[in-house]
Amino acid sequence: MNNIAVFISGRGSNFHNIHQHIESGDISDAKISVVFSNNPKAKGLEYAKQVGIDTIVIPPDTIKDRIAYDEEIIKLLTPYNIDLICLAGYMRIITDTLINQYPNKIINIHPSLLPSFPGLHAHAQAIEYGAKISGCTLHFVDKGVDTGPIILQRHVPVLEDDTETTLADRVLKEEHKIYIDGIKLFCANKLKIEGRKVFIKDNI
Ligand code: GRF
Repeated sequence: MNNIAVFISGRGSNFHNIHQHIESGDISDAKISVVFSNNPKAKGLEYAKQVGIDTIVIPPDTIKDRIAYDEEIIKLLTPYNIDLICLAGYMRIITDTLINQYPNKIINIHPSLLPSFPGLHAHAQAIEYGAKISGCTLHFVDKGVDTGPIILQRHVPVLEDDTETTLADRVLKEEHKIYIDGIKLFCANKLKIEGRKVFIKDNI
């Protein structure tokens, strides 16, 4: 059984979707043990409480130093024996301290086809740039921002009349799919990282 910690800062639709796939048995070898948030008002926390998942919240102003903040996360996560951390709309840069504690065990969903449009406002960046195709990327987290080895990607066309909202809605549907696929692959131990590349073991 893989113990998952999901990190959120807001709505939590990816978290909700992951939880539903576990509950339905579609993901059979994992459990969401805890949800962590930097934002006490994150909507997703309400859902976690409704379904009886432990939550941990550390508002950033309570621990200002970033390393001390991540050390506190490590301390609070330790009892859960976490195998995988899923960043799902977690709007805070994590430090090397957390990355080193969970090597190759932290994954993130980003709403663009990386390496295009990293960082904030990915959809606005794609529309403004005039990209015809955008999408989403599930990747391992390394020390950069949205730079880690890519696990899965899905493309989504950018339409001429797209706004940030309409594009985000279509991309989100694909995010939900690849997050589930990626968790299944991780839990089945099918992901092998070599340098920047992630090989899916059955395809090697
Ligand atoms: C998603 O678009 C994700 O890619 C981005 O933040 C959004 C979070 O959505 N990093 P939700 O909180 O999972 O609904």
